[in-house]
Formats: sequence, C-alpha cells, structure tokens
Amino acid sequence: MSRVSIAPREPIGRAGEILTRPRPDRDRLDAILAAVLARIDHNLAVFTDAFPAPSSQGGVYPAIDNTEWTNGFWTGMLWLAWEASGQDRYREAAEHQVLGFRDRIDNAIAVDHHDLGFLYSLSCVSAWKLTGDLVARDAALAAARKLLERYLPAAGVIQAWGDLSDPAQAGRMIIDCNLNLPLLYWAGEETGEPAFAQAANRHIAQAARHIVRPDASTFHTFFMDPGSGAPLRGTTHQGFSDSSCWARGQAWGVAGFPLVHRYNAEPGLIETAARLANYFLNRLPDDLICCWDLIFADATQPRDSSAAAIAACGLLELARALPLSDPDRETYETAALAMVETLGERYLLPPGPPGTGVLAHAVYHMPNGVGVDEACIWGDYFFLEALMRLTRVWEPYW
Ligand code: GLY
Repeated sequence: MSRVSIAPREPIGRAGEILTRPRPDRDRLDAILAAVLARIDHNLAVFTDAFPAPSSQGGVYPAIDNTEWTNGFWTGMLWLAWEASGQDRYREAAEHQVLGFRDRIDNAIAVDHHDLGFLYSLSCVSAWKLTGDLVARDAALAAARKLLERYLPAAGVIQAWGDLSDPAQAGRMIIDCNLNLPLLYWAGEETGEPAFAQAANRHIAQAARHIVRPDASTFHTFFMDPGSGAPLRGTTHQGFSDSSCWARGQAWGVAGFPLVHRYNAEPGLIETAARLANYFLNRLPDDLICCWDLIFADATQPRDSSAAAIAACGLLELARALPLSDPDRETYETAALAMVETLGERYLLPPGPPGTGVLAHAVYHMPNGVGVDEACIWGDYFFLEALMRLTRVWEPYW
C-alpha cells in the first residue's frame, strides 16, 4: 500500500458547524446507555436460546436460529452489556450462546461466506478476551481457519460470498469484509501462523486500491479475476447504483480501515479512512444521520441509522489513531458524539413487545425491499459500542 500515492482528503465542508455543536454531557450519554440496557433486558428471555433476525418487522425482531451472518451482533451486545453493568445475567446468556457458536462452526452450519468475523469476533473472541473461555477461543480459531479458506492467492482477496467454484461470485470482494479481517489477525497472533496476517494484509491493500474510488467514495463490491488476479469491475449489491456510494459500505470502510490498522501499521490505512470519512461527512443531511445511499444527501430518502452508528464507531477509531495535530481529528470526535446523541434523542424505537429493536430508521437491503425503515441488529450493536467508546476506556472485541 505504501507504494500507492494517496490523494488528499476533500475538506470537510461543514467542519466549523460540526465543531460548534454542543457536546452531550456524560450524564446524557449514561442515560442513553441505560435505555439500551433496558431494551436488552426486555428482550433477554426471547433472545437467549434464539437470536434476533437481521432486521425487524414493524420494529420487532423475529426470533431465529443461529444461521444468519448477523447472529454475533446480539451476543456482542450481551458482552457489552455485561462490561457496562457487571450484571451476570448478560454474561450467562452470552456464555450460553457461545456454545451455539461452537456448534455452528463444528457442524459447518451456514459458514460458507466471509462474515465469520462479524460472527466470531463479537461472540467468541470477546468471550476469550473477557473471560478466558477456551471453548470460545477454539471456536473462533476454527472460524478463522474457515475464513482463510476463502482467500484467493492470485487475486489477493477473501471472496465474500458463494461457493468458491461458483462463477457468478468468483473473485468478488466487498467493503464490508474490512470488519472480518480482525478475526484473521487475531488468529495469527494466537497461533503464531503467518498465513492469517499475510492474507489479511493482501486483502486490505486490494480493498484500498480497488474498492476505494479516486474520489474516496467506495464501490460496495469489486470483482478480481481469481486466476490472473487482474482487477475487473466494481458493482453494487445493496446500493442505489454501481456508481453511487452505498452509505453503509462507506461506513464499513470508515470503521474497518482503522480497526485493521490496530494489527497492520501501514499508515496509508489511516489516511484512506480519513479520506472516506470526509466524503461521508460531506454527504449528510443536517442531523448528520445518513440516507441509505450517499447519492441522497437531502433527506428525502430513508435514513440508515445503522450506517450512522457504524460510522460513529469508525470516526472514534480513526480519531484515536490520528496525531493530536491532525486538522480533522477533533471534527471526527465531535461528529461521532453528535451522531450518537441524535440517535439517542430522535431515533430510539419506543417501548414495544419483547423483541423490539433499539434504533429505528435503518435499512437492510433497499434493492430487495428487505428491512426498509426498520431496526437492524448491527445498528443496535454499533450504537452500544459507540456508547461504550464514549463513556469508558473500552478494548474492542475486533
Ligand atoms: N454486511 C451486509 C450488510 O451490511 O448489509
């Protein structure tokens, strides 16, 4: 990556306006966090043996088995709730679910995709880091080995979806995968085997080179030729068009490049994240909560609160990695605070039946009409992660 010249960041047009927003005080953030914990309590009985579906229906998550790419987010919320409160009911439910994650990888249940990082970093690496649970460690290492099987050496990428022999999916990487790479780095550190970091280092360099466009927007997905390694074309899957910038994809980039930088000291990762962050911040409606695709900045389209929550975590992770002298660092922190406060003030779902989500107004898959203006479980997770980052010293599970 260091051989690639990195274009300058576009200036943050509203930096002055962002910096003058009043910062919420600690009591306000604690109150929002308490409201999220209360919602978890409300849902705990339903979601101990079962899990929330990826998105809600009428604000309420249907209960599902451990078969989706999203199951780790709820278990991750339980670990965060335990860290925030010290209440053992959350740890006990999370430990119960860890057994299900071990069963899932042992029996290869719906694990032929790249989302193993989302699943196992938040459920099992977390358990290992927080409690020294060896069952969780073994399950996470098995998941990391499964993820490594998706690495295509000629292309230097982890293939996102599909059987590796499926020509329709061959060589496709996606921006979301940035968040799955920490599982590989973690496994490399645990085992001492260099193959994990080698694959992750190649993938993140390819993502920076090909998924990030010259203007610092991102393709959702990009095809590489798995045989020759040649870059082929960028396409969208969940965005408005192949040339638009899907808001959650951009947020995965803002969050993922600096998280990978915790393991890979390449400075270009941080500058890339900053370029993506500025592009994102310059295409937000006035309340700083993005529409579902950044081609729409005028708030006439559905918002994606889940992308805002991911971006808030990413901006905080980015600010942490930047020197105090960086001209945009304070804007990133202030914007993250403003987004979290706005989500807490104006985007919380009102009380409802058990299974009710936390954040309203997210979008799962607009082109397929799935989960539009609903809660999405990763949005709830990242909102709670952002609150943890803002209220205490917190070590990521990633
Ligand atoms: N990683 C899939 C999504 O963000 O919807």
